[in-house]
Amino acid sequence: MRTYIDSAEVENVREAYELGLVDGVTTNPSLVAGTDREYRDIIDELTEFVDGPISVEVIATDYEEMLEEAREYDTWGDNIAVKLPMTRDGMKALRTLTAEGVQTNITLIFSVNQALIAAKNGATMVSPFIGRLDDNGHDGVGLIEDIREVYDNYDFETDILAASLRHPYHVQEVAKAGADIATLPPSVADKMFDHPRTDSGLEAFLDDWGDRESPALK
Ligand code: G3P
Repeated sequence: MRTYIDSAEVENVREAYELGLVDGVTTNPSLVAGTDREYRDIIDELTEFVDGPISVEVIATDYEEMLEEAREYDTWGDNIAVKLPMTRDGMKALRTLTAEGVQTNITLIFSVNQALIAAKNGATMVSPFIGRLDDNGHDGVGLIEDIREVYDNYDFETDILAASLRHPYHVQEVAKAGADIATLPPSVADKMFDHPRTDSGLEAFLDDWGDRESPALK
């Protein structure tokens, strides 16, 4: 499974990159607003070291302005994926951008039917928000399973990008469900490394070894 980092904080992405977790990056208006930086400056810094897709989300909600923004973002790098909302205007813009060969990520997906429509219109990726579904008492991972089944039934090439992940258990469950990509909030990515038995096991090894000299240094 490919892992992206869901953040507009460049240093968070850089730290995860050094740990082998950055196959791409997703951003959204809320994440960018939280940095108090210009969107373009953030993306320019990310494209310096991230080779995989970097999702840049349109702000416009109508077709013409979405296209204007998307075509501008597409010039910000060779690996830009334009993020469009799962709306009627978003789908019309998706059809036009697909014909122009622009990479796309359809966001705010909450149902199989929405994922089906996006795939039929050529989306490069779809982003089901599983955490927000769980937050409302629904089965977020189950949505990934259902989209996987439908995409496999009809050989859709659209990637399922599991988003809105709340904890490491979500990561393993969407991997088991067949997501192509998981986009990780930095806090979730960090927690994936740790287990108390790893720490105690290492401590026990070192205690047993004691103050013997390292075999490599003899
Ligand atoms: O960036 C898309 C998605 O991962 C946002 O998730 O629910 O934590 O705002 P959320």
